[in-house]
Amino acid sequence: MNITITRYPEKRLALETDRLILRQWLDEDYAPFARINDDPRVMEFFPQLLSRDESDELANRCRELITERGWGFWAVELKGYGDFIGIVGLNAPQDRLPCSPCIEVGWRLAYRHWGKGYATEAGSRALRFAFEALMLNEVVAFTTSTNQRSREVMERLGMVNKNQDFDHPALVPDHPLSKHVLYAISRKVWKEKY
Ligand SMILES: CC(C)(COP(=O)(O)OP(=O)(O)OC[C@H]1O[C@@H](n2cnc3c(N)ncnc32)[C@H](O)[C@@H]1OP(=O)(O)O)[C@@H](O)C(=O)NCCC(=O)NCCS
Repeated sequence: MNITITRYPEKRLALETDRLILRQWLDEDYAPFARINDDPRVMEFFPQLLSRDESDELANRCRELITERGWGFWAVELKGYGDFIGIVGLNAPQDRLPCSPCIEVGWRLAYRHWGKGYATEAGSRALRFAFEALMLNEVVAFTTSTNQRSREVMERLGMVNKNQDFDHPALVPDHPLSKHVLYAISRKVWKEKY
């Protein structure tokens, strides 16, 4: 896939859904994000929990990319409450993957906000941005094959398994989380669905 878009001009943009706001990061998001990254239930399918410094570094990277490009892994806020509940958004993976170069949609929510449809709602808004604002032809998603909840979000969004399972290059091949599945949705299929 050819990816020519590197930035979106509306840098102060926030995306809205019925219940959520996807927006640029604020300083006050860093502490709740660190709690998410230190929760073994949330991090079950990641190689390790993140320390406060590692979590802050990740938040800084997300924030800088949004400043630079106008899009990325947005901070997700519950409308009307102002609570930071996690991250959802778009990313250009730097690892060499079967889909590279590609743009992925991804999500990580605080445990107490699971089971309410927020990841699907925010993911759907991120896809709309990918296809209507960035004019991408395809968006992918990938996760370790045993991460059923994440796979179900992909399926609810209309993404299909490309049957191109791969060992994640950042993990040793016999690592229990190494096997990944790759899902995708094309602009054409997205238009038919939405
Ligand atoms: C992946 C993750 C975001 C999915 O969260 P989730 O809560 O399962 O997914 P959603 O937010 O879309 O919610 C869907 C659930 O909410 C329910 N729901 C309740 N109210 C709803 C509403 N108003 N609208 C839609 N769904 C609703 C759905 O029925 C569904 O329930 P089920 O899981 O019992 O089938 C979450 O598990 C997570 O953060 N995991 C850790 C991070 C991670 O692994 N990220 C992916 C790495 S690649």
